[in-house]
Amino acid sequence: MYKGLGDLKTVRLNEEKTAVVILDQTRLPEEEVYISLFTAEEIRDAIYKLKVRGAPAIGITAAYGIYICSKQIVASSFDVFFCEFSRIKDYLASSRPTAVNLTAALNRMEQVVLNHRDVSIDLLIHLLYKESVNIREEDAVACRKIGENCLSLLRPGMGLLTHCNAGHLAVSEYGTALSPIYMGEERGYGFKVFADETRPLLQGARLTAYELQKAGVDVTLICDNMASVVMQKGWIQAVVVGCDRIAANGDVANKIGTSGVAILARHYGIPFYVLGPTSTIDLDCPTGDKIVIEERDSKEVTDMWYCSKMAPKEVKVYNPAFDVTPHELISAIITEKGIVYPPFTELSK
Ligand code: MRU
Repeated sequence: MYKGLGDLKTVRLNEEKTAVVILDQTRLPEEEVYISLFTAEEIRDAIYKLKVRGAPAIGITAAYGIYICSKQIVASSFDVFFCEFSRIKDYLASSRPTAVNLTAALNRMEQVVLNHRDVSIDLLIHLLYKESVNIREEDAVACRKIGENCLSLLRPGMGLLTHCNAGHLAVSEYGTALSPIYMGEERGYGFKVFADETRPLLQGARLTAYELQKAGVDVTLICDNMASVVMQKGWIQAVVVGCDRIAANGDVANKIGTSGVAILARHYGIPFYVLGPTSTIDLDCPTGDKIVIEERDSKEVTDMWYCSKMAPKEVKVYNPAFDVTPHELISAIITEKGIVYPPFTELSK
């Protein structure tokens, strides 16, 4: 964990292992409030409402969550247990469709159950606990490696632009896109970071600016429509973003607005790096146009941050939460296993 972040903890289990405790990200940056989630309904609602968000973090929440819910299942046989487990799994998976980490984590938990049909339910629960902890620990290790790998492409003093939040709050410990920034900070690189505010939910302003500032990183907040200006002025030497799903051909789904940043970066000749754990690669998804893009409530655009309504009543609103950056615009995909360059045929290895 980067020392500047203190004891900020995005997702954890409580001591009794009866609840998932999350930092409620909808309350940031004003207050650091932790809430405990005891039921499948509470866990799904927290993911849907983005109280916990970011692709790996929702995977970890779902893994801890299904462990907590499995302990509440009353079953006299494996079949009864598995039937209820599957219902909860599908229910949690339905909370958000785009980030593959959510279903990937739940599938791993399901595999533990399927691999241990003959053990007692108590042992099964213990194995589920261990797997959920593994998912969290592996993510933390992957984030560090991603940071190291990306840092090999960066130089001290560089200006870096990032979109949305792919830091500690979205993942474990160092995050993905922010991992090289924290590591660079530890080594005196002195990066100058520009954070896009990230309309409509302002993850860049509320979360990235918050965690980088808290950690003592030199961060400047800009509106999304200012990215072109800071690039034109020569203040940006690389773009670093996270990802929610990487298709087999290297197309990348990430927070809405990411593809626009990639187009700008190409125009100004700035490298555009996508950082994520290999768990974000979905080889069953051949290209980006097969990725399901979540659409959210129109009020996030028309009302949410305003004192009064900022759009005509009942105006049509299109509010996709993610977009797909075509692989042609990506300079490299950086995972814990290494750096993959176009044409991204190495992704499947
Ligand atoms: O809607 P959100 O806030 O969950 O979207 C988050 C992003 O798009 C992140 O960039 C992505 O999940 C990568 S997190 C390491």
